[in-house]
Amino acid sequence: MLKMFYFSGTGNARNVAQWMAAAWQSRGREAETIDIANPGPDAMRIGPDDEIGIASPTHGFNFPPITLRFIFGFPRAANSNRVYILNTRGSVRLFGLRIPGLSGVAQLLAAFAFLLKGYRVSGMRPVDLPSNWIALHPGLCDANIRAIYERGESKIRRFAGRLLDGGRDLRALWDLPQDLLIAPLALGYYFIGRFFFAKSFISSNACDACGACVKQCPVQAIKLVHGRPFWSYRCESCMRCVNLCPKRAIQTAHGFVVAVSVLFAAFMTAVAYPALQSIPVPDWPGAEWAAVAVRFTIESIVLVLVLFLSYRILHPGLRFRIIERLAVLTSLTHFGFWRRYRAPKREEGREKSD
Ligand SMILES: Cc1cc2nc3c(=O)[nH]c(=O)nc-3n(C[C@H](O)[C@H](O)[C@H](O)COP(=O)(O)O)c2cc1C
Repeated sequence: MLKMFYFSGTGNARNVAQWMAAAWQSRGREAETIDIANPGPDAMRIGPDDEIGIASPTHGFNFPPITLRFIFGFPRAANSNRVYILNTRGSVRLFGLRIPGLSGVAQLLAAFAFLLKGYRVSGMRPVDLPSNWIALHPGLCDANIRAIYERGESKIRRFAGRLLDGGRDLRALWDLPQDLLIAPLALGYYFIGRFFFAKSFISSNACDACGACVKQCPVQAIKLVHGRPFWSYRCESCMRCVNLCPKRAIQTAHGFVVAVSVLFAAFMTAVAYPALQSIPVPDWPGAEWAAVAVRFTIESIVLVLVLFLSYRILHPGLRFRIIERLAVLTSLTHFGFWRRYRAPKREEGREKSD
């Protein structure tokens, strides 16, 4: 049986899991899809003949923490079981030109963990599907979503066919040089960047505290505080809440983040840098670069802490109309042209845990 595990913020990885399951079923083979966020009691019981699939979005050139925790906690192989790893990436289409996403260390880390646990990694494939990262750019238009989906789906069909014939497909390794080159960015995002994004979400006065975001959050990162959603550091920025809010009330507070960052930079330039200048840098080769890297890391961590404190002030402040308007009107996601993204519903495999 193919046990096709997936984590999905907005539906892309879930569609991939369902395509894989459907391909297995079309050849008369058993397959089930299992949501990593809600796997159920028997999901991790792996039999000697089971094949394992993992589909998950790429977040910050890596798999998101929920997927990594799941993979690292996976039981040892019963019988060198075959594993297929699929990372969905954010692709965009500009003037007909398709720009693929970047995997970073997502595939490599997962493959390494499975190999250590005695599995045979027989499939490694990035899947370019429409980018859902609407904190950074507006959601794609329907025509682009359709075009990117058609391509992605046909690639998965071919990938599944090769695996079902007993072969291997390690296409992800073609990107190895570029993936290794951006590995430091994956590290930076994992340890610092993702916390920064977690504190950029607010809800506008359109929010009626229906609790849909709280219920839908796959990592239970949102709670209602004073009748408004509050995002904790558990948030993985999967974009489900922003994209699914029925009132379109959830925004990325771009203005707030920029204001905090600018004030922080001004403070560093006026006060902290002159003080730091007096600390001597040793005369070793490369010491200058090491000092720059250490300074950048410390500054980024302090900025995340400053953002955290500012968010604690902003959240209750949103009760005042003037603060709410200021935060919302300086948020790009508030404007009508900034589309939301939701993966199209595709062929249904046998859904186990929804
Ligand atoms: C916080 C965040 C970080 C992302 N980082 C990357 C990335 O490093 N590389 C990439 O190709 N796509 C990236 N994306 C795009 C998603 O991986 C892509 O849209 C994916 O297909 C979404 O899958 P889902 O709908 O199952 O959540 C990112 C998206 C988000 C929300």
